[in-house]
Amino acid sequence: MDNRLKIKKRMVSGIKPTGSSLTLGNYLGAIKRFVKYQNEYDLYLFIADLHALTLPIDPNELRENTKNLLATYLAAGLDYHKCVIFKQSEIPEHTQLEWILTCNTDLPDLTKMPQYKNYKDTHKKQSVPSGMLMYPSLMNADILLYASDSECIVPVGLDQKPHVDLTRFVAENFNKRYPNTFTLPVPLIAEQGAKIMSLSDPTKKMSKSESDIGTIYLSDDEETIYKKIKKATTDGEGKIYYDPENKPGISNLLTIYACIKNISIKDAEKQFTKQKDYGIFKKEVAKAVCDEIIPLQNRIKQINQRFILNEILEEGRQKAELIATNKLNEVYRKVGLK
Ligand code: TYM
Repeated sequence: MDNRLKIKKRMVSGIKPTGSSLTLGNYLGAIKRFVKYQNEYDLYLFIADLHALTLPIDPNELRENTKNLLATYLAAGLDYHKCVIFKQSEIPEHTQLEWILTCNTDLPDLTKMPQYKNYKDTHKKQSVPSGMLMYPSLMNADILLYASDSECIVPVGLDQKPHVDLTRFVAENFNKRYPNTFTLPVPLIAEQGAKIMSLSDPTKKMSKSESDIGTIYLSDDEETIYKKIKKATTDGEGKIYYDPENKPGISNLLTIYACIKNISIKDAEKQFTKQKDYGIFKKEVAKAVCDEIIPLQNRIKQINQRFILNEILEEGRQKAELIATNKLNEVYRKVGLK
């Protein structure tokens, strides 16, 4: 058998340590998938602490969130022997490459990015922080530093896909000027759970900035989870089936249930075809969420009490640095900085 076939494909992704807790959307759309992928890919997973600075954040809060995010990775089952876990800010090559990529990116390609546009539209009277504009350029660097010779897969939720598409575009243009520099990254979007919706407004993404009642946080207690799901917006039809356009609330709850139980939405649907009582259905969904989240919280607490977190980050930093330095040196030579 050809030895090259055994080499795992490179994978890279990150999560911002904003907010004291991640959401169920982050968990189902990203972390739970990473746990599976760590066995299948050569996974580089970082804490996107530089991205957390895009909007003002208290320094102590950022330190605390960073620690908590690392503990959440580990509690969810990410194993630092199987994947490389590190802090973005500890690899200066991210910002060094960012500058070079920025110089090779046209302004309209940044201004058309959805997060920048959304911020601009919702904060009409305020000026937009430049970090909000440059945010995707830093993401381009985050990804392209680790794009290996063969392939680079980027697992993200649907909201982040335009950023990964931009990375491909920027890499392609860069390669035209400086041939064979970057492997084009490929976004990996989950078939189900790529966009977990808000419980209160299931036409919008569940996010940290959404209303409390629409978002389940990984730190919510059992009572809160049951209450939020009980109040989730649904419809008056009294039938449980998947139809995101006409039944966004029920479809979102079915998606959450399916992702947690590791089953297909079709199979989740089958379990509830005879159920007409949305209240009973919601209790089943809440139970599934609690069965997954409450033990996770206990593991996070235990991990936080141990003092090995810095060592894990240091080990990750050393491994990530090796790859990042090589790539940046190559880019420096190509553009004439070396
Ligand atoms: P962030 O921190 O906003 O989100 C982390 C991951 O969670 C996914 N996600 C969701 N998935 C499904 N349903 C939801 N409601 C939901 N909400 C969030 C996001 O799509 C993401 O995959 N800029 C990135 C972090 C980043 C990054 C990178 C990611 C920085 N550099 C390079 C990949 C590659 C961010 O802020 O994600």
